[in-house]
Amino acid sequence: MSHGIFITLEGIDGTGKSTHTRRLAAYLQKRGIATVVTREPGGTKVGEQIRRLLLNPKITRLSSLAELTLMYAAREQHLEEVVRPALARGHVVVSDRYNDASFAYQGYGRMLGVQTVQALDRIICGRTQPELTLLLDLDPQTALNRARKRNSRRRMKNTRFENHGLKFQKRVRTGYLALARQQPRRIKVIQADRPVAEIEAEIRKIVDALLARRHVRVRSKGVTRRR
Ligand code: TMP
Repeated sequence: MSHGIFITLEGIDGTGKSTHTRRLAAYLQKRGIATVVTREPGGTKVGEQIRRLLLNPKITRLSSLAELTLMYAAREQHLEEVVRPALARGHVVVSDRYNDASFAYQGYGRMLGVQTVQALDRIICGRTQPELTLLLDLDPQTALNRARKRNSRRRMKNTRFENHGLKFQKRVRTGYLALARQQPRRIKVIQADRPVAEIEAEIRKIVDALLARRHVRVRSKGVTRRR
């Protein structure tokens, strides 16, 4: 049984998700809430190696199903090493992406279909599902331009996913929005074409409401539920 709170941030590439993951974690930590900040694919030594492979633009012959299973291989390691132990300790886990990304990118983007992703998800994630997902939503062309600009600023190559272009990102976005329509209580859509501070304030409000709903007692060394 886990007692912590699992929060994920999602969105197509270039929506500012990583910035808001960091900011949210810092906000929670400042309030004395033990928070683990992590990401997918990655979050563990093995996961970061799988990430390098998955994002490498030089790898052009990876089947969609191979891509999906690698995502879940990294996820399994992440769950085992990081997420489940942290939740068991009563911590808040804030993850920059998790399983919704597989539904959106591989299920919709690569067109593998939701059922294929669901099959792996049942085995690997099981009941470890996010309690809250913040979906940063942005027009795909604007988002892709932002991602590419950021990469060139950091002298980084575009990833395999960014190289796939606008049509792909549009399918991924459609997928995310479909998921949000199906699970409106868990997935909150945040308009990402606004100033960072405004987005941050909205995220804080949503997370504060979750903490209150869960009757979270804020202590200096962790978060527990009262009931
Ligand atoms: P990012 O962490 O910089 O967003 O890069 C990760 C990339 O991997 C991003 O393009 C989305 C993609 N991805 C998937 O396709 N499926 C997944 O399940 C996850 C976690 C990420």
